[in-house]
Amino acid sequence: MPANFAFSRLLAYSLLLIMTAVISAEVAVADLPRVPFERQQFRRPVAIAQLDASTAVVANRCGTLSVIDLDQWQVAAEYQIGGQLTNLAVTNGLLLVTDAEHSRLSLIRISRQNAQVVSELPVPTHPVTVQVAPDGTFCTVASKWARKLTFVTLGDKLAISATVDLGFCPGEQLHVPSRTSMLVADAFTGRLAVVNTTTHDVEAVHEFGAHNIRGLAISNDGQSLLISHQILNDAALPRRSDIVWGVMINNLLRTAKLDSVLEGQSGAIYGGQSINVGYAGQGAGDPDTLFVDQSGQAVIALAGVNEVLIGKPGSRAFQRIGVGIRPIDLLPLSEGRFVVVNELSDSLTLIDMTKDAASASATEAQTANAAKPTVKTVTVTAKTVTATTAAATTAAAKSDDSSPQGDGEYDEAEAYTRKYGDQSVYDAAASTYRSSYLETDVFTSSLSLGPMPELGPAERGEQLFFSARLSHASWFSCHSCHVEGHSNGGRSDTFGDDTEGAPKRVLSLLGVGETGPWGWNGKKPTLPKQIHQSATSTMRGPGISDSAASDLAAFLTTLKPPPPFEPAVTPADRTQISDGRRLFESLSCTECHSGTTLTSADAYDVGLVDERGLRQFNPPSLRGVGYREKLFHDKRADSLGEVFTKFEHQLARQLSATELSALLRYLRSL
Ligand code: HEC
Ligand code: HEC
Repeated sequence: MPANFAFSRLLAYSLLLIMTAVISAEVAVADLPRVPFERQQFRRPVAIAQLDASTAVVANRCGTLSVIDLDQWQVAAEYQIGGQLTNLAVTNGLLLVTDAEHSRLSLIRISRQNAQVVSELPVPTHPVTVQVAPDGTFCTVASKWARKLTFVTLGDKLAISATVDLGFCPGEQLHVPSRTSMLVADAFTGRLAVVNTTTHDVEAVHEFGAHNIRGLAISNDGQSLLISHQILNDAALPRRSDIVWGVMINNLLRTAKLDSVLEGQSGAIYGGQSINVGYAGQGAGDPDTLFVDQSGQAVIALAGVNEVLIGKPGSRAFQRIGVGIRPIDLLPLSEGRFVVVNELSDSLTLIDMTKDAASASATEAQTANAAKPTVKTVTVTAKTVTATTAAATTAAAKSDDSSPQGDGEYDEAEAYTRKYGDQSVYDAAASTYRSSYLETDVFTSSLSLGPMPELGPAERGEQLFFSARLSHASWFSCHSCHVEGHSNGGRSDTFGDDTEGAPKRVLSLLGVGETGPWGWNGKKPTLPKQIHQSATSTMRGPGISDSAASDLAAFLTTLKPPPPFEPAVTPADRTQISDGRRLFESLSCTECHSGTTLTSADAYDVGLVDERGLRQFNPPSLRGVGYREKLFHDKRADSLGEVFTKFEHQLARQLSATELSALLRYLRSL
């Protein structure tokens, strides 16, 4: 795929410089309430940062911060701050925490004894990552739905110095020491923006046909950029023979010349190496965050298969170590030692590759028991692990046939146990346990952040949604295409409409609970029917039971539509939007895009035919339509404007320029 990039001068990436700094709210300094360790709740840890030599802090999606005593390997304290926490960073011994629910950045003083909010700052909608610049004077916050990067000056108070309009929904970011540029990745598709940290210009945007860019790091010599991401091939068919080699979805570690990337050179990202992190028959579903250790090895969380992968870029000798469910953050401690954050098992895993395995198990087991008598340490020998892995491989090999149908039911708990032996992290009832085991020369110890309630249908569905074990040979999960419930923006031939050779745009699942019937052709009357189809014909895995399909449906119905793309800001805006809405009604758009969901139950021929002659489509919901960059079932419209200018979609009459702008403004406000 050809790489292209755009320079900042392009109007699409306009820069918004806020001349008057927004001063953050003064917060009365009161201690944050403590959460008792015994409290049962789904904590859902998402990020970890190290506060001092023996202390780390974990941000939990449920709105709490867990303080971890790294020496004793136990939870020292947990504080309630509220909201939906997404990320954290350390500055001058204080914590910066992003909260997506309240769209704010908080500066927090935290210790094992108490915690207080020092300063709070409203930031653009849905902040997802925060990173402190190498010189420590400012941080940057990426706001996913607002499509903005905010520069915040650090001090006793937080203050916004600039807001940059990125033109895409950002996720990961990376500051580069002693450079004036940083990188910001697209949360869904394959864009990587170079942003000048002095002028706040978007200097270049690389596009490289990827998606799910979840990890960015710099090599130890400072020469290379490492990126973990996926690629969806819209020419591939979901056949086991294609999936098993990563032809349909590939999981990659890419290296590129850092200078060329920062300079915005065309093709800079393709210039480097791309390393497939999976093997035929043993996929590495959903590579997530990564870091480079002192010996130059890359450590990558494999979020879909509950493992971390360690290996030198350039070599294919990867080691894979089992951890908890959905590992999505990593904290390097010292050479050969790091902590893994397992989002969906509410646990951390300590990995230590430095110790003599046999003695490590004895001493760690002792420390564990001394530190917390309630903790049970299970030690499984290397032999046991090898045996269970061999059993799993045999099972995987058995299912490696080309039959399009699933050949049995999938059970996450069963698969997990089969692979990792007696691991207590998976089991809700055992969530207060800490278990350890040895795999060759690696010592791992998992730590629960607190007891979990019993998993309900939505929680079980969430684990399935993010599990690559649903796909043939563990190459991808539902999330690989429907990134965090949204869409990777690609096209895929999923056989969803029972035809081959007519790839369709991946639909967002945000708000999907209300928009039946499902599928582009509207042939799936219930969500579980669509889910069975996805699990069987898209994933080609072992198939799922009816109860697993209804669990997945329960999870999908928890996904809310994204916030309005461009809400009204000025009175003139409001007028234009209501003009547009009146036009939408008078042009009878509401016949097919009706009610609050802006869709309807039938399929219509609107003059667009697919490669197999199919012409009846179910109107997509227009909620959040502004976030879609290419439109219609095969992405044939390059922009929202083109739907009407080039394709004259359902226009009974010609629109004046004013009318068209009003209609588009209305659609963008949804
Ligand atoms: C390889 C990419 C890919 C993967 C993996 C994938 N999907 Fe999809 N999904 C699609 C595409 C493409 C469509 C539209 C297909 C069509 O209707 O013809 C779709 C449609 C759907 C729809 C219908 C949405 C609507 O608004 O009508 C649901 C629900 C869905 N997928 C759920 C899932 C679930 C659950 C999984 C995991 C078991 C999954 N998908 C895995 C690509 C994918
Ligand atoms: C007869 C039913 C019908 C009417 C009337 C109708 N639409 Fe649609 N609309 C559809 C269908 C079906 C599609 C999907 C077609 C495809 O992708 O092949 C669609 C797609 C769209 C899309 C692209 C959405 C996406 O995700 O790709 C937009 C935007 C849209 N319609 C807006 C409008 C507007 C504005 C009007 C009024 C001028 C209108 N529609 C009238 C049925 C209708």
